[in-house]
Amino acid sequence: MPTTAETFVASTHRLFIGGRWEDGRAGERIDVEDPSTGERIASVVAGGAEDIDRAVNAAQRALDDPHRTGWSPADRTRLIWALADAIDAHADELAEIETLDVGKPLRNSRNIDIPGAAAALRYFSGWATKIGGETMPVSIPGDWHAYTVREAVGVVGQIIPWNYPLMGAVTKMAPALAAGCSIVLKPAEQTPLSALRMGQLIESVGFPSGTVNIVTGHGRSAGAALVQHPGVAKISFTGSTATGKGIVRAASETIKRVTVELGGKSPVIVFPDADLEKAAVAIAQGIFLNSGQTCSAGSHLFVHRAVAEPLVAAICDIAREMRLGPGMDIQTQLGPLVSAQHLEKVLGFVEQGRRDGATIAIGGLRRGDRGYFVEPTVLTGTRPGMSVVDEEIFGPVLCVSIFDETDLDAIAEKANATVYGLAAYVWTRDVRIAHGLVRRLKAGSIRVNAGGGGDFAMPVGGYKQSGFGRENGRLGVEAYTELKSVMMAV
Ligand code: NAI
Ligand code: MG
Repeated sequence: MPTTAETFVASTHRLFIGGRWEDGRAGERIDVEDPSTGERIASVVAGGAEDIDRAVNAAQRALDDPHRTGWSPADRTRLIWALADAIDAHADELAEIETLDVGKPLRNSRNIDIPGAAAALRYFSGWATKIGGETMPVSIPGDWHAYTVREAVGVVGQIIPWNYPLMGAVTKMAPALAAGCSIVLKPAEQTPLSALRMGQLIESVGFPSGTVNIVTGHGRSAGAALVQHPGVAKISFTGSTATGKGIVRAASETIKRVTVELGGKSPVIVFPDADLEKAAVAIAQGIFLNSGQTCSAGSHLFVHRAVAEPLVAAICDIAREMRLGPGMDIQTQLGPLVSAQHLEKVLGFVEQGRRDGATIAIGGLRRGDRGYFVEPTVLTGTRPGMSVVDEEIFGPVLCVSIFDETDLDAIAEKANATVYGLAAYVWTRDVRIAHGLVRRLKAGSIRVNAGGGGDFAMPVGGYKQSGFGRENGRLGVEAYTELKSVMMAV
């Protein structure tokens, strides 16, 4: 007997446009595979420009509908919360879909992705009734009633990557819906299934037709059409810096509002006084969770020479013990990478690192010849100028550099020597060092004495080439609004 998730995966997938499930106009499809076997498990529509156009028009009609009921701020709070309840009610099924599609361990889908998606919806649901303007005292001559109004920015295009498909979709959709926008979502071509299942849940909880539209497809066709469409007011994108650059360029044609959350090479800086046991666990979890396919992963360890040996040994011990295997096996801690292409890329980085003189302290190899498994890997003796250090690998690969300095400016200079600036992690018990480094580090999110895992109240986003704009928190909701300033002579 197939599970509910397997039945959904094997079903015929369509596009969700204007509240209906529709075929793509061009009739093309994309195969979806299980990364633990490389086998085709489903196919989805390869949406094109015509499909995007239909979806954008449906989204605009939803916004324009003068008779639309059920979209007051309180209605939106209720609907967004109801979607969270629906996700909870189908948590086991969604977790299985996510694991089949992305490869990630089922225990992670169950404990992180699905509850995270529900939590995001609940956090943002409350904002729908709390977005307002201000009244301002003005000093120019005359009597004035002066105030600001926050309005939904309009139709938003949301383009997401494959590493956390459901959470990625929801953390983009929830603030936009709270702000009153309507949405055209384009999931990643590798991992479109959980978003499509969520489309069914959106339908079932009664969102007005056209407020959420889901068009699966390739980036170069469906994604590009969404970024170019003149009816789209804002693009929110998460993915690679290379693709992000092209999106910013293309969006400038129609002066779209843009939020881009891009790649990272986040430093983890460990001082001799740190709780090394705790640090080792958090560092290993940070880089190996989701097989390193996490934008904010601490992927470059800077450790003081005095504690380098025991810390690296402890991280390698954890890596050695990790159970690598198919995500559907509940014992698995480390699943496969998402695709053959990505496997090749990650192994290519490791090989180049070796040729450049890095030492493989542990791992470094593909595991098996079926599926896309890579061992948890630690590279020591890495230096700036090596591609493993300068570029985002996006795999279970930790680079280690040793420092001798005590001067915080010098340490920060090393940690900041990257084009990225998404996150940074500092391990020390000395408040002077902690505050001193926090001030000097060029990164959008900083953790002191802790690893990953966030809270939707806390804004996230990049410095430098890790992007611009912030998601989460009040700022994340306001990013889906336009501000109107009104002065009335009284
Ligand atoms: P990508 O950035 O190209 O894809 C992300 C999303 O953008 C997908 O939905 C894709 O269809 C869409 N897209 C691609 N080209 C587009 C275009 N021209 N216009 C509009 N949308 C477009 O990432 P990809 O190719 O899947 O992975 C490449 C590398 O990017 C990875 O190896 C990894 O290093 C990095 N990456 C980083 C992520 C992060 O969160 N920091 C997430 C995903 C990938
Ligand atoms: Mg897949």
